[in-house]
Amino acid sequence: MNFHATSGTPEKQRTAALVVGVYEDEKLSPSAQRIDKASEGYVSRLIKQGDFAGKKGQTLLLFNLPGVKAERVLLMGCGQKDKVTAKDLRQSWSSAVKTLQTCGATEAMVCPLEAKTKDEELTQWARLIVETAEQALYRYEHTKSKKESLKKPLAKLTLLLEQRSQQPLAEQGIQWGQAIAKGVSLARDLGNLPGNICTPTYLADEARRLAKEYKSLKAKILEQAEMEKLGLGALLAVSRGSRQPPKLIILEYKGAPSKQKPIVLVGKGLTFDAGGISIKPGERMDEMKYDMCGGASVLGTMKACAELELPLNVIAVVPSSENLPDGAANKPGDVLTSLSGQTIEVLNTDAEGRLILCDALTYSKRYRPDVVIDVATLTGACVIALGAHASGLLSNDQPLADCLLAAGQTSGDRAWQLPLWDDYQQQLDSNFADMANIGGREAGSITAACFLARFTEEFRWAHLDIAGTAWLSGKEKGATGRPVPLLTQYLIQHAQEAKAS
Ligand code: BES
Ligand code: MN
Ligand code: ZN
Repeated sequence: MNFHATSGTPEKQRTAALVVGVYEDEKLSPSAQRIDKASEGYVSRLIKQGDFAGKKGQTLLLFNLPGVKAERVLLMGCGQKDKVTAKDLRQSWSSAVKTLQTCGATEAMVCPLEAKTKDEELTQWARLIVETAEQALYRYEHTKSKKESLKKPLAKLTLLLEQRSQQPLAEQGIQWGQAIAKGVSLARDLGNLPGNICTPTYLADEARRLAKEYKSLKAKILEQAEMEKLGLGALLAVSRGSRQPPKLIILEYKGAPSKQKPIVLVGKGLTFDAGGISIKPGERMDEMKYDMCGGASVLGTMKACAELELPLNVIAVVPSSENLPDGAANKPGDVLTSLSGQTIEVLNTDAEGRLILCDALTYSKRYRPDVVIDVATLTGACVIALGAHASGLLSNDQPLADCLLAAGQTSGDRAWQLPLWDDYQQQLDSNFADMANIGGREAGSITAACFLARFTEEFRWAHLDIAGTAWLSGKEKGATGRPVPLLTQYLIQHAQEAKAS
């Protein structure tokens, strides 16, 4: 879709559809007030009659309003005026976009809820409008034989501002929103693809495709033989039970001079997790195709970063494998030697994410990173702790954790920090190796991070557990693309700070 920003008065816009916000209790947004005035009270009469309550997500399409140049006016319910959050606006706008998509208008205009927004808020408002519109219209069709085709899909959206001076602010937000939406869509597509298509080889090819599409990106794939030579023993052990060759996928983004230390993003790319010999129960096992969503979100973030041409160096490292039971699979009790030289006793083959990640984290050291952030659908315990609302965040560096928490707030893709205290480390003690790969029932998300922390002592590092946020279950089953918005916002912030100092 195309997005633009312009300024002017709502009632004078010649557009196929004009979207204005209405709150509960008969409260109109400034743009709705103007439309109401121009149409001699048409909107407020409707509301008084009880035709529109302004509830969040409610929409009402009006035609040929007197005194208004737009062909249609779409009332967008926004909920209670003093309580509207960015998340509410996202929900309201999402349902408005879905109405627009099916109403025959190929182009539309949308007004901000409040006219006098601060600069920073206006940019974020524009970002949210764009990102949400693209996400509301996202459809997964790769493996459907019949593709849905719309007669008149929405192709152009214009953000209508009050003042011309606001235009550059909105345009910045539009640019961010479009880039994030592209990254999110890629992450959702990769996540939703079934495990028989989205294999480690497929993910590696996707990285190569990205490198072809953007000059600033370079792909490098480590094959099994090279990993054997280097000694990525933990990653290779996980892949032993699979017929699909494992890959260590590296995608480098160069947007700054080489002397600038890179940010390394490590993403778990486990394309199907059956648990291995410690096999999982059957219920909802299909959802373990989503166990590569960390890797997908890292690739999506690289795409957003390349779109925005951020003045940074960023490197994605995606360890990719399947985890299946087989005669050759690794077994409980096996002892592995990781790339770091540390040995690991495998007490549960289903705790495989940390095994492929620890070698990728050790591998990251060669880039002399500024910071390393890993993203993984790592523990069921994180779903129990935080549900689908927040990703779990653990870090060995508080300023880095604070930056990520802030980026989560700004982007609406939130994280919540858990402690990474040494007190938990003893749960990983083993009689036969330097550590065990599981830490018992208690504090499962923290002990998983404690395991990773043993491979990240030499750099600033943060870990995002996205087991609860990467996809939705039930009727709405599908990948969310999280945490691409959080990570991209973090990179944007980082680039701005680098410029300022
Ligand atoms: N990929 C799973 C984690 C997971 C489970 C994410 C359910 C989302 C929903 C991971 O590889 C795993 O199996 N973790 C185990 C660890 C345990 C054996 C210590 C878990 O969380 O049960
Ligand atoms: Mn597992
Ligand atoms: Zn897993």
